[in-house]
Amino acid sequence: MSERFDAVDVIVAKRDGHRLSDAQIDWVVDAYTRGVVADEQMSALAMAILLNGMTREEIARWTAAMIASGERLDFSRLGRPTADKHSTGGVGDKITLPLAPLVAVFGVAVPQLSGRGLGHTGGTLDKLESIPGWRAALTNDEMMAQLGGVGAVICAAGSGLAPADRKLYALRDVTGTVEAIPLIASSIMSKKIAEGTGALVLDVKVGTGAFMKDEGRARELAETMVALGTDAGVTTVALLTDMDTPLGLTAGNALEVRESVEVLAGGGPADVVELTVALAREMLAAAGVAGDPAAALADGRAMDAWRAMIRAQGGDPDAPLPVARHTQEVRAAATGVLAEVDAMAVGVAAWRLGAGRARKEDPVQAGAGVELFAKPGERVVAGQLLARLHTDTPDRFARATEALAGTFVVRDEAPAPRPLVLGRIA
Ligand code: URA
Repeated sequence: MSERFDAVDVIVAKRDGHRLSDAQIDWVVDAYTRGVVADEQMSALAMAILLNGMTREEIARWTAAMIASGERLDFSRLGRPTADKHSTGGVGDKITLPLAPLVAVFGVAVPQLSGRGLGHTGGTLDKLESIPGWRAALTNDEMMAQLGGVGAVICAAGSGLAPADRKLYALRDVTGTVEAIPLIASSIMSKKIAEGTGALVLDVKVGTGAFMKDEGRARELAETMVALGTDAGVTTVALLTDMDTPLGLTAGNALEVRESVEVLAGGGPADVVELTVALAREMLAAAGVAGDPAAALADGRAMDAWRAMIRAQGGDPDAPLPVARHTQEVRAAATGVLAEVDAMAVGVAAWRLGAGRARKEDPVQAGAGVELFAKPGERVVAGQLLARLHTDTPDRFARATEALAGTFVVRDEAPAPRPLVLGRIA
């Protein structure tokens, strides 16, 4: 078959700072998915996009081309509104776990197609797989049936959604081109639009433990994604939220499930509760449904939905969670106020303890991770327990402890409190 364009011409156009035409974009995404455009050519194009950017129109067309590379789900026969949440990834970010059942309490179907962790941020599926019996892989029919019954499902995104993104994301990962805003925005939004949700709330993380360290770039990413969603007919809202310090007191798979269950039981760390409720309010508003999520967390309705959701996927919500075989403690070096607990350092430590993976084929340890005992702003005394490290493989302690060097900063003065929600884009 003769091709409409030559890959080199498309690369050169973007290299020289030109706008790509709709036809060029449609062709290059499709030809890459078919294997006609080679990986080295797409790498060069991705780098040219990273360096020279794309207009809003180019990003929208690129996103549409990625959606067209695969199937689209249709939840319209559920007969109820749908809402989804996507986080750009952070340390201790277990919010999806309490959030999905919480929103389902109000009759909104929550199709939460999730991924596994790579690098220092944990993956939602890895966390849930620490629950004995729980199964991430569902067919589309099983997913639909669960949404019609329980109302919430957290499962693996099937390979049929935006296959162009699957291929391109793996390539970006090894070519230094993950950070391009047009590519991140189109990657996330192509999957969410193809998934067919009616409403979408984006949690765009900002800070040391996030993709976006800088608030200006996080805002640009959020604005780009909100525009893409809105133009595709998905009611889309973004919150910019702090990721300088881990969310809650745990980073690691089973540790985070335990903390999520505490939140569903009406307790848990204040920041996890605050963000869960803030995102639930946004999801309900975007879905056009009234309700008080704080009350549903406090009175056990969200817990009932969680138990039903876990059972529906083969999990036993009452089974004891796995516990790591070895622990080591970190204690305060001085008396004062805990001024900082760096999110990236805690994420890397949890990862090195075995909670995360370096390559996508690697296994994870369900019990591994970091448990914190103090948050920034709290008074601590020298010798007080600040963190407990968990792993099945004690030779990992040395490198995890190395990652945590200088992480627990104790000062005389309390730091200025930093809000958790830094901004909202709609
Ligand atoms: N998550 C995605 O799905 N894609 C990106 O490009 C970055 C984060």
